[in-house]
Amino acid sequence: MRKGTALSLLGLVLSATAQRFVRFIATDGQEYTGDAILPAGTTDAALTKQAKVITGDILGDFQITDEVKTVKTLLAPLAPEKTRTVRCVGFNYAAHATEANVTIPSFPILFYKPWTALAPPIGPVPITKGYQNQTNFTSSMDYETELVVVIGKKAFNITEDVALEHVLGYAAGYDVSHRGWQIDRGGEPQPQYSMGKGADGWAPWGPAIVSTSIITDPQNLNLWTKVNGVLMQNDTTANMIFSVANMVAFFSMGITLLPGDIIYTGTPSGVQLGKANPQWLTNGDVVETGTENIGTCTSTITYTPLEPCTCFGVLRPVSQRGFELRRRFAIGFRDIRTPMSRG
Ligand SMILES: *[C@@H]1O[C@H](CO)[C@@H](O)[C@H](O)[C@H]1NC(C)=O
Ligand SMILES: *[C@@H]1O[C@H](CO)[C@@H](O)[C@H](O)[C@H]1NC(C)=O
Ligand SMILES: *[C@@H]1O[C@H](CO)[C@@H](O)[C@H](O)[C@H]1NC(C)=O
Ligand SMILES: *[C@@H]1O[C@H](CO)[C@@H](O)[C@H](O)[C@H]1NC(C)=O
Ligand SMILES: *[C@@H]1O[C@H](CO)[C@@H](O)[C@H](O)[C@H]1NC(C)=O
Repeated sequence: MRKGTALSLLGLVLSATAQRFVRFIATDGQEYTGDAILPAGTTDAALTKQAKVITGDILGDFQITDEVKTVKTLLAPLAPEKTRTVRCVGFNYAAHATEANVTIPSFPILFYKPWTALAPPIGPVPITKGYQNQTNFTSSMDYETELVVVIGKKAFNITEDVALEHVLGYAAGYDVSHRGWQIDRGGEPQPQYSMGKGADGWAPWGPAIVSTSIITDPQNLNLWTKVNGVLMQNDTTANMIFSVANMVAFFSMGITLLPGDIIYTGTPSGVQLGKANPQWLTNGDVVETGTENIGTCTSTITYTPLEPCTCFGVLRPVSQRGFELRRRFAIGFRDIRTPMSRG
């Protein structure tokens, strides 16, 4: 047997033991990828305090070591630049299509976000001046909880029955949406999905990539959104129009899906867009998007100062932080509504 083959087999055996991939800054100040050790009684990887260090590349050959590190700050489970394409699916739950007054699609509706949108599971969602309220155009930020799929193996022209073999695992995600830019500003027939959904930090995800050995059936997971603690969306992936396997196979008909690529699989009903009197998110609102057996992302809508944004330098600890974050940002950014004056 050749050495390479032996190593790959070893890799397969070791990867079979992997559970929940997290990327984090440890208390020693270093960045690691690890296999989360969950506290007893929870499956929310956002509560991870410790992880076994993984060496190598979780998209290729890797090894889970016995070295345990203490987690200080959770990062997005993959470094953003490892993801070459962020695919998103529109109207994949019938009740959401109905609340948005669109026809139920007969094939998956695909759009993209740039990978600069990818963000850690816990932290601010920066709303820059261009997306804040402007005279006769009101900011209309909305939430969308989604199951996120991470591609593990290159896929081209594959069939549905082998599609899940190309998936590394699943995460929870928030497809941040500005309905004004997405819909009103473009209007039919000029929707601006990229402007309305693709800004920096508008794709929080994590808190872990939960492997397909734990989630063998992605079509049986509860997913929800809470805004400032109030439940707004709560549904199950069983209600997807197009299954994960169906979407992966469909997209692969002419586009190569690469390891590290991410698919946001659509949101269920309950978004503000579908309401008669929408209460759009505003500065300081805390949005929790969660998926069963994976965990939660906690994102704080943050009107950025009108001068250069420092949001990405501000990483927050993993501890119960939602409302604390809100307070801190409210203090830190209290002057953000003051109009900008450039000399
Ligand atoms: C959908 O249609 C209803 C009834 O015409 C309307 O009240 C509602 O505002 C529409 N919603 C959206 C998101 O267009
Ligand atoms: C946005 O601006 C308009 C016009 O100035 C104002 O009427 C509206 O209340 C503002 N909305 C928010 C959410 O600040
Ligand atoms: C805002 O008002 C200006 C001036 O009336 C108008 O030209 C523009 O179309 C309006 N924009 C929106 C988004 O309604
Ligand atoms: C796609 O796969 C099918 C078999 O499933 C094969 O017949 C066909 O040639 C493939 N097409 C391309 C472009 O690779
Ligand atoms: C969502 O609904 C299910 C079934 O009714 C319930 O068990 C679950 O607790 C709800 N989720 C949340 C986050 O409240």
